[in-house]
Amino acid sequence: MCEHCKEKFYITTPIYYPSDKLHIGHTYCTVATDTMARYKRFRGYDVMFLTGTDEHGMKIEEKAAQAGITPKQFVDNIVEGEGGVKDLWKLMNISYDRFIRTTDDYHCEAVQKIFKKMYENGDIYKGSYKGLYCTPCESFWTESQLVDGKCPDCGREVHEAEEEAYFFRLSKYADKVRDLLENTDFLQPRSRVNEMVNNFIKPGLEDLCVSRTSFKWGIPVDFDPGHVVYVWVDALFNYTTALGYCNSAHNDYAKYWPADVHFVGKEIVRFHTIIWPAMLMSVGEPLPKRVYGHGWLLLDGGKMSKSKGNVVDPYLLAQRYGVDSLRFFLLRSFPFGSDGNFSNELLINTINVDLANDLGNLVSRTVAMVQKYFDGKLPLEQEEDASKDDELITMACALNHSYAEQMEKYAFQNALAEIFKVISRANKYIDENEPWKLAKEPEKTARLARVMYNLLETVRICAGLLQPFMPDTSAEILRRIGADEAGWESMAFFGTLPRDAQVTGGAPLFPRIDVAKELAELERIHEEAVEKARRAALPAMETEPLNAEPVDFDTFCRSDFRAVKVKACEPVKKSDKLLRFTLDDGTGTDRQILSGIAKFYKPEELVGKTLLAIVNLPPRKMMGLQSCGMLISAVHTEYGEEKLHLVMLDDAIPAGAKMC
Ligand code: MSP
Repeated sequence: MCEHCKEKFYITTPIYYPSDKLHIGHTYCTVATDTMARYKRFRGYDVMFLTGTDEHGMKIEEKAAQAGITPKQFVDNIVEGEGGVKDLWKLMNISYDRFIRTTDDYHCEAVQKIFKKMYENGDIYKGSYKGLYCTPCESFWTESQLVDGKCPDCGREVHEAEEEAYFFRLSKYADKVRDLLENTDFLQPRSRVNEMVNNFIKPGLEDLCVSRTSFKWGIPVDFDPGHVVYVWVDALFNYTTALGYCNSAHNDYAKYWPADVHFVGKEIVRFHTIIWPAMLMSVGEPLPKRVYGHGWLLLDGGKMSKSKGNVVDPYLLAQRYGVDSLRFFLLRSFPFGSDGNFSNELLINTINVDLANDLGNLVSRTVAMVQKYFDGKLPLEQEEDASKDDELITMACALNHSYAEQMEKYAFQNALAEIFKVISRANKYIDENEPWKLAKEPEKTARLARVMYNLLETVRICAGLLQPFMPDTSAEILRRIGADEAGWESMAFFGTLPRDAQVTGGAPLFPRIDVAKELAELERIHEEAVEKARRAALPAMETEPLNAEPVDFDTFCRSDFRAVKVKACEPVKKSDKLLRFTLDDGTGTDRQILSGIAKFYKPEELVGKTLLAIVNLPPRKMMGLQSCGMLISAVHTEYGEEKLHLVMLDDAIPAGAKMC
């Protein structure tokens, strides 16, 4: 395709809420989008790949307030800060062409214009929002959202309230949207269409409340300050403002809009296939060609969420197994349109089986044999293909077709399965041809060279087609087999690699992982992270508040504090709390004190120590033993855990010395 007549392809991810760090579920959609964008570039399209962050709304306002910073500082930190959204996409090798932040000025100004446009054409009107209101949370709830009739967030009483708000005439577009869903390929996979029609359209589409007055962190309605634009109106239009719609910060709206596909998670299909087309109809703009609602990555059968504490950290996995292995795993293991259960075991097994055994072995065996038998370069004299080469060559030549057929349907898992069929066939081809035997017979050198060449060509095609999934690994394999040519057109031709290409070795591409050891290590890391998170939520140090009630001096002076030396210390039978101390208090008669500190000290470590005791308390009986006095300790809590230290005195202080 020439530069000027390249067909365009505009693809987007949802823009992420930077309310917390992103997890593997978010990474899933972005990796899929990146793979599709790379595939289309590979095929010669002029690709625009948009991603970004959706930064307004009450939740962010609240989180910022809790952190004691402004909402902008809060989102800046998660988007641009270390380990934030942009860092994660860099790590995951995400080749986005544009990144939009909904707090960007051009976007905010464009949204104001769009809101006004819909208002002026009569699709937005002022009304009042009625609902059950929780005053402390400043939130409206519906009857069904309440928990035991109370606010689901704070558990307090709610009351009926009414608030002035703007509404979008969604109801007006119900028939058109239904037609779009039922009679076109707009929404895929097709299975999601019924869900939209039955759950949302058939019961009757109500007009949508599109402004809020209960919080400030949003784009103000410029003709009615006090109202901020509903976050979904603000967010959905990102797909157009990022190209320059209603703003002059960009100017490729005419070139790229309408989007060829929006990839979105299944829970936001509703916004993208009902509200979004209706709003575009309202402003008279073309509709996106397709919305693809992908499934979720589940953990133990449930959704990952920060509040459940079961999110999986993509940084950790990428660091342990490599970015490409992680990218590969995400798209190889789960069908894109359905939910999939994430597990560490599945991840490790996929790496071991597909990458280390199948792909890694094919590459390393092929490269090693070319090095061993031909010093890294095949001779130009090679035998013609034999009939037993046909199957491998036919499969390798047809691969680009079957692969593309699946990629065009966003069936990443199937596209990879096609590649792995050829990889398996190539591994079998090695076993069938037994190059190590051919190498022992000098008259078979030309045949050996042909066998090795066929393997190198198969590796070239497989590695070439893996490029959208595993960009770095693909480049490394192509480098090792000396392939300069791995463009899309060359994928259909067997025989593109120069016969005498220079082959070079390298470290194993995918070292095998010891499953049991690795699972145990991940478990340990997980527990450590949970503990760290638990601690982070608690104050590092807490002490009891000072007692403001005065004690009179005489009473205080009557308390008799003495230095005591520990002669013996042992646990009290049948008690897990008490230690029994035999103490020298300077009187010549042993003193016995029981102290509930067994969980803080081992008895033997206290023998010989000089402690502080109050000795004129009335004796008490505990577990049938007499305790005459009390040992003095310092107590506080650390990350919610009780800590205790016996007050230890300088050993130079003699037993019985009075403290005053
Ligand atoms: N801000 C909105 C999108 C606005 S688009 C105009 C939003 N953000 S989100 O950060 O909550 O989610 C972003 C995407 O991540 C969604 O498509 C969501 O489905 C996806 N995922 C979040 N957790 C996921 C999994 N566990 N598995 C797969 N995708 C998941 O929604």
